[in-house]
Amino acid sequence: MQKLKWWQTAVFYQIYPRSFADGNGDGIGDFQGITAKLDYLADLGVNAIWLSPHFPSPNWDCGYDISDYYGVAPEYGTLGDFETFLREAHARKLRVILDLVLNHTSEEHPWFLESKSSRDNPKSDWYVWADTPPNNWQSCFDGDAWTYVPERGQYYYHYFMKQQPDLNWNNPAVKQAMWDVVRFWLDLGVDGFRLDAIGTIYEDPALTPHTVPMNLAELRRFSETAKTPEEIELKNKYWHDMFCHQWDGPGLHDLMKELRTILDEYDGDRMLVGEDDNIAYMGNGGDELHMVFNFPLMRVERITPDHIRRNQKTRLSALGRLPVEGWPCNTLGNHDSSRLYTRYGDGVHDAELARLNAALVLTLRGTPFLYNGEEIGMTDLIITDPSQLRDTMASWYYEQLVNELKIAPSEAALRAGETTRDKNRTPMQWENSPNGGFSPAKAETWLPVNPNYAAGINVRDQQDAPNSMLNFYRNLLRVRKASPALIGGEYKPLHPKAGSYFAFLRQTDDQTVIVILNYSPDRHELRFRLPQKTAHLLFSSAGRSQKDEATSRISVGAFEVYLAELL
Ligand code: NOJ
Repeated sequence: MQKLKWWQTAVFYQIYPRSFADGNGDGIGDFQGITAKLDYLADLGVNAIWLSPHFPSPNWDCGYDISDYYGVAPEYGTLGDFETFLREAHARKLRVILDLVLNHTSEEHPWFLESKSSRDNPKSDWYVWADTPPNNWQSCFDGDAWTYVPERGQYYYHYFMKQQPDLNWNNPAVKQAMWDVVRFWLDLGVDGFRLDAIGTIYEDPALTPHTVPMNLAELRRFSETAKTPEEIELKNKYWHDMFCHQWDGPGLHDLMKELRTILDEYDGDRMLVGEDDNIAYMGNGGDELHMVFNFPLMRVERITPDHIRRNQKTRLSALGRLPVEGWPCNTLGNHDSSRLYTRYGDGVHDAELARLNAALVLTLRGTPFLYNGEEIGMTDLIITDPSQLRDTMASWYYEQLVNELKIAPSEAALRAGETTRDKNRTPMQWENSPNGGFSPAKAETWLPVNPNYAAGINVRDQQDAPNSMLNFYRNLLRVRKASPALIGGEYKPLHPKAGSYFAFLRQTDDQTVIVILNYSPDRHELRFRLPQKTAHLLFSSAGRSQKDEATSRISVGAFEVYLAELL
């Protein structure tokens, strides 16, 4: 087996800085807080951190609207605090990748302030300007994609909010300025980047209008009310058709190659993972991005054995067809999506399903990405008071529902609370004390803390409870670390028609591990015809006393996660 790189063997953990740990007691997470929790992460058994944006930002999009690419948001600390964090992370063998937002800046970034100041300033062509809106394109967050600026008497383009103007990547000076940013952080020692929204960097040069007979607010509303298969299909078609001309414009592959060349100048195997599922962005497998996320795995209502098998078949064969075989990257949650525990629960067996899905991400072939709080079973918190919303996309939607679509405020508040990403961004729950131990009791946290910290959903209570979710993750991470087959082995599905459980092998030349994830409340007696006759227990969520089973008959309990080495 070829020697794997660090990013192939690592388990990544996404830290959402605003919500991870509040070191100075102001209700907002910060570097002091994160640094103090590095021992926790090392003990959990993850190997790398993806840090969501930590840069100065007016926070219209919670940090994804950057006003200074060289700095640290004052509420998170100083550049010195960042350097301390990085040093301390590396001292614990935790790699760190940053979030790199290339498509747009904040409207408060000096580049944009200059660009919008006149039609003939030196940065006049750093963003995408037009005399009149050239088409009906929508911003995916807040309505029209073209916004007027009186100083220039022109409109600028923004795929996201109007506070996030798109950079003009056809201008070589923009590229140069952004590559300087990349070098700055690589020189400081970061291990790579998660590339935000790469598909949106280039648009259709012909500016082809979309053909959907509604605007964004109407489409959101239509999506919520779509119930029949026909309506759901139409809704999906509309989402595609509304934005298809604003993605994947020509030039992206060359751009990714250029960026890759910069990373490759550095030692230490610096890496790039793209926020996209399109394998094409991995180029020939060795000359663009190192990985892209397997989002199709998570884009379903329910995780079922059939869905997983189909997903793996399509994904792994596509990666295998690249000239240099591509490496998979799996996740079931991040700061943009409902939490794994809530999203894939059935309301009755949520805890069991959350464990099965965690085990899935940690045992499939590829690099797993976990989202902070997942490991203690944090759940979505529905915010029903619109004044508490911090995700401005949801505030915008609330206003649209009430003012434009004339929906009753109580109903609109509920809808906004369900669509907002705030629900999955609430502060990390460290202990059973006011504010969940995230901030001191008296602090007002930036988003409300989920009150279920008092019902055992917190780190402190779970730390010493052998059957807690936290110890489930910890133990599984230990087993993974000690099993070469789980890290680098090939994937071989077993019992390809089983509807209620998912069984597969991970296999290297020297080790074979069987994984069985029983997604049903029924016990199963499973018969496998395998060359190895004994399955030696590595991990079970069911507290088995017997270590060895005959592979000809392995019995798994309701919702059991079972891993064994075949001997
Ligand atoms: C994707 C990020 O994950 C999301 O949080 C953000 O709102 C958009 N890109 C815009 O940067």
